[in-house]
Amino acid sequence: MKIENSLTLPQLPEAPSPTGLQFSVATEEDFDEIMAMSQDIYGGLDYLPTRYTTWLQESNRTVILARKQGKVIALESVCVIDDGETMLVEGLRVAPQERGKGVAGHLLRFCSQLVKSKNPEVKVTRLTRDDQLGPKDFQKYRLITKQGILLVRFRAEDLKLRLTELVPDEELNCSSSSSSSSSPQPPPPVCLDPIAIHHLYLTTDLMRGVLPNATIVQDWQPFKPLPSNMAILLKKEIDWMVNDVTTPTMASLCTFPFRVPIGDDWYYLNIDMFGKDLALARQQFLCHLRRHTASLKGHVMCQMFLDPPLWKPMADFCRQTLQVELVKEYTEQCVVESDVM
Ligand SMILES: CC(C)(COP(=O)(O)OP(=O)(O)OC[C@H]1O[C@@H](n2cnc3c(N)ncnc32)[C@H](O)[C@@H]1OP(=O)(O)O)[C@@H](O)C(=O)NCCC(=O)NCCS
Repeated sequence: MKIENSLTLPQLPEAPSPTGLQFSVATEEDFDEIMAMSQDIYGGLDYLPTRYTTWLQESNRTVILARKQGKVIALESVCVIDDGETMLVEGLRVAPQERGKGVAGHLLRFCSQLVKSKNPEVKVTRLTRDDQLGPKDFQKYRLITKQGILLVRFRAEDLKLRLTELVPDEELNCSSSSSSSSSPQPPPPVCLDPIAIHHLYLTTDLMRGVLPNATIVQDWQPFKPLPSNMAILLKKEIDWMVNDVTTPTMASLCTFPFRVPIGDDWYYLNIDMFGKDLALARQQFLCHLRRHTASLKGHVMCQMFLDPPLWKPMADFCRQTLQVELVKEYTEQCVVESDVM
């Protein structure tokens, strides 16, 4: 195993690598080569082009490349979260012509050794997968939680008109505190400011029953509700919503729309929904959509992650009421964990 860039990578024991891979820390200059091998990733919904520069600047993250004969053939990012206990693996990809040869396995093991050598307190690896996991995977991983994935697409301008009819104006600028209402409809959802987020997620136990296995899964990243993680989350552009600040039963986190490589003027919207109430989930979904389609022009791929039993009725609602196109049938997002040796 040849290790490049010894200034930033600690000296790990040299081990023979049958694949002849060289590992290095990714830099700005590698961007084009990484994009060239990422053409087919996530059906065009790759977040890496948007996130790459930020990732390189994050102090708790390392982006590692594997090269073969000098050419980039794989990437993985590792991020230390949960007060230093968890190594989060993200962005894993291997160039199409190099798949099925064990490259991902080598890279995962290298990154694990690297993180452990720099952060001996790391105990577990966590990752989020949306492929079908089999018995072999569950010998390796513990399941932390799973969410159904609902992927729909629409033109922002078309949906905007429909949403104006479906979402009352008073719900558009959802208040930062609960409003009392005498109508039979549930009161409008509440948008949380950083103080309210901090209070609700960190100083009370109110979200424990709402979050799946006490985990905030935001845009594929699983976080334990801890102050150190909240500092990471609060730096991101996210809308945080709950149905009620005193007795929350439904909560959601929505990214601001960002461009994805599927085509020009294509945006991605990621909504993580926690809780089991369909009416409240629908209400928050509509509210997020209306907030973000107000000024957007172009196509939107909207991916919502929700409690599996809510998938079917939410998919019916999307097709019949919103008249948006369902991109794929039911798939799952699994957050899994294994011990770091
Ligand atoms: C998934 C992918 C990275 C696998 O790469 P590969 O080099 O063909 O995989 P390998 O030949 O090393 O064999 C699979 C190994 O990778 C692991 N693996 C496969 N898919 C994985 C995933 N999505 N996340 C983490 N590990 C994965 C397997 O558990 C196995 O590990 P093991 O050696 O400890 O048993 C590759 O097919 C790819 O780039 N796909 C497109 C991008 C993608 O879907 N990435 C996953 C993001 S969740």
